[in-house]
Amino acid sequence: MSKQQYDFSKQTNYLKRKMFLDPEGPVTVQRFEEVKYPKLSKFEELARGFFWVPEEISLTKDKIDHKEASDAVKHIFTSNLLRQTALDSIQGRAPSQVFGPVCSIPELEALTLTWGFFETSIHSKSYSHIIRNVYGVPKDEFNKIHDTAEIAGMAANVGRYYEDLHLLNCRKELGEDIEVYTHKRSIWMALHASYALEALRFMVSFATSLAMVENKIYIGNGNIISLILQDEILHSEWTAWLINNVVKEMTTLLNFRRVQRRSICTLYGSYTRRKSLGRLPFQERCCYWFKFTNSKRLRRLYSFC
Ligand SMILES: [Fe+2]
Ligand SMILES: [Fe+2]
Repeated sequence: MSKQQYDFSKQTNYLKRKMFLDPEGPVTVQRFEEVKYPKLSKFEELARGFFWVPEEISLTKDKIDHKEASDAVKHIFTSNLLRQTALDSIQGRAPSQVFGPVCSIPELEALTLTWGFFETSIHSKSYSHIIRNVYGVPKDEFNKIHDTAEIAGMAANVGRYYEDLHLLNCRKELGEDIEVYTHKRSIWMALHASYALEALRFMVSFATSLAMVENKIYIGNGNIISLILQDEILHSEWTAWLINNVVKEMTTLLNFRRVQRRSICTLYGSYTRRKSLGRLPFQERCCYWFKFTNSKRLRRLYSFC
């Protein structure tokens, strides 16, 4: 935590601040009696309302399914969970570690903290819960994450935009003079990376897990993935909202958006080409995901959005 964050000696008006990198500095007092962006508060409240724990879901039949599954099915089931664990390990930290230090309003800071909580304490723990249920020695499975080149490569690809922003944040905290435009550009690219991860990378993994439910195996796993899916859809919604609204506050990004259109397209392309679902037209991909979501919770989400 920087000294600026616990310097409560200065008055500040959050209603006049920008979301990111306001000249007044980072969030000091976390107060929510009035907020600049009620939409961000509503996103955060909705996420908290989705609270669930993996132990709610019975995995008894999954254990039997796993014993009877072929080696190929076991491999797909396990590799997919390991890949999802790796993705959530990154996304569990990114909101608070990468976006947290550049947040300038309390409702956005609260959102990043709730976001990270769900990725780590609900999603990552869910994958451990599922793997513990079917394997006698789960650590042997988790150890495979480090030996699987595809998972390690994917993590490096996902993390690079976060690292760029993290380095700028650290340099700024150490007192280096960072050009505001460069810093904003890095926030913008990290938000796009986050959207690509939430809306595309996770979804192609979920499609594999949910396809198994269609074949009437690993239903408990599918139920947990459906709950994770609804969280990720909400995360995608607010990331898209941030991407659209940060440009309104940082008009200099408009020019950057025009110039960088190609690199942003490349970023999305690199996130979608890994699995065949990623090659489907966007509309078809959406139908595929939504088909498996819990309709009651989805209705809540869309009545809100
Ligand atoms: Fe997640
Ligand atoms: Fe997420």
